[in-house]
Amino acid sequence: MKKFFLLILFIVSGIIDAGYLTYEHYQQVIPPCTVNRLLPIASDCGRVLRSSYSVMFGIPLALAGVFQYSVLFVILIAYLVYRKKVFAFWLIIQSIIGVIFSAYFMYIQLGVLKSICIYCTYSAIISFSIFFIINKVLRKERFDLRLKVISIIYQYVAKPIFFMFDPEFIHNTHIFFGELLGKTFLKKYINWKFNYQSSKLKQKVAGINFIGPVGLAAGFDYEAKLTQILYSLGFGFQTVGSITNLPYEGNSKPRLGRLPKSQSLMVNKGFKNLGVEKMSKKLSQLNFQVPLGISIGMSNNKSIKNTTIAIKDIINTFKIFEKYKVKNSYYELNISCPNLINTHTDFYKPVNLNQLFQSIKQLKLKKPVFIKMPIDKTDRNFLAILKTISQFIFIKGVIIGNLFKDRKSPLLNKQEVKKFKVGYFSGKPCEQRSNELIKLAYKKYGNKLMIIGCGGVFNSQDAYKKIKLGASLVQLITGMIYQGPQVISQINLELEELLEKGGFKNIQEAIGYENR
Ligand SMILES: Cc1cc2nc3c(=O)[nH]c(=O)nc-3n(C[C@H](O)[C@H](O)[C@H](O)COP(=O)(O)O)c2cc1C
Repeated sequence: MKKFFLLILFIVSGIIDAGYLTYEHYQQVIPPCTVNRLLPIASDCGRVLRSSYSVMFGIPLALAGVFQYSVLFVILIAYLVYRKKVFAFWLIIQSIIGVIFSAYFMYIQLGVLKSICIYCTYSAIISFSIFFIINKVLRKERFDLRLKVISIIYQYVAKPIFFMFDPEFIHNTHIFFGELLGKTFLKKYINWKFNYQSSKLKQKVAGINFIGPVGLAAGFDYEAKLTQILYSLGFGFQTVGSITNLPYEGNSKPRLGRLPKSQSLMVNKGFKNLGVEKMSKKLSQLNFQVPLGISIGMSNNKSIKNTTIAIKDIINTFKIFEKYKVKNSYYELNISCPNLINTHTDFYKPVNLNQLFQSIKQLKLKKPVFIKMPIDKTDRNFLAILKTISQFIFIKGVIIGNLFKDRKSPLLNKQEVKKFKVGYFSGKPCEQRSNELIKLAYKKYGNKLMIIGCGGVFNSQDAYKKIKLGASLVQLITGMIYQGPQVISQINLELEELLEKGGFKNIQEAIGYENR
């Protein structure tokens, strides 16, 4: 409140200063200007105030100053009374306008007229002070405004351009530049300007510290090229892979497609990755600012002919990762990839799943494991899988869930689906079933298993919904592609507000609130 009082003082003194100059302007009097000897540059108010620069479009600058400070005054009062974001944004923008003009007029005085007018300089000092105080007291609103501006630029400029090109090409280009940024000092700048975190969103889950609840889901960063930059966008954790024992060059194209009307992506990657040997070496040499989920899947290879071979294949991947001791990480075991050549192995059958988990148990893993769940199973089948999962202590939670399979669903636009003969779907079509299953899992196993909600998170409301149904954390990919890279910090920022509005002190209090 002290700072707001100071702000009012500055604004009022600005009105007095500009008001005085306006009065003198219309009286055609040059005010006294007597500090010549103290300044290294001539102080000549007359030269400045009589110059052609003192009037713009027929309006004396002094009068424009009165207008600027008065507007600031009115908005500030409106903000203090109503506490509406719109007034905060307006204050920020108005103070930026003031600073830009003040900087320009100071340049005119010092650079062009080579003399200064103390009244105008005083006004510039006030403008800069107002700007700094507003930026200090409205730090969160300034962040919010910046993210909103980026969001608008992404929606109306960047995304239409990106969407003109092949999705896989755009994806690879982003990975290339993301990796590059992660190697430069620019990542610090991005972190400073983009990364919004809140102490209310911090959690310790399964022994891991998560600074934020929004993570990158498996499938965006197969080769771990973005691990040094994602933190700067506001991610609280990130997943690499899925990674398999044997490398795979990917299914034949198209591997990726866009369905904008359905707010979805067609995915047909089939675990395109470099294989565990290369990836484990690479990851072991890196440090991660936020926890890293290592997504592990079964090799997409014709040699995986039955469940026994599939289990050996997965076990080998775990063994190699254990050997390399990747820092600050946990495992995500993907039992639900729909795009594999091998259709003989069905880990949805509890007996097979049990066999797999028994083998993993023998490894005595040092890191917690989360299971990536399917969303296309009936409630009964899903609960049967959860029952098996809940019997193994090394499994700390489930990720709900993977891609949407039903091509005939009304959640997908028919014309868009027709374009793709292959693949399954991410984004909004996943959301409904993902939420139903989060609700079910939390009700039945919320005391045993931690839930990561995934599927169709496009904004803070979507994330909040999953949290209130029982998810401790959320993951996304498609939301970032449709909404822009700022969406992660936007979710963090707005989640903080939603928690406050909901009367929750922190995220833990909200988890499962609607589902108890
Ligand atoms: C391009 C792409 C590739 C994916 N690859 C994987 C994968 O390798 N492993 C996995 O567990 N999930 C994979 N997924 C599924 C996502 O992790 C996530 O479960 C799904 O996209 C729903 O989240 P979203 O709606 O936020 O995209 C992939 C998704 C996309 C969009």
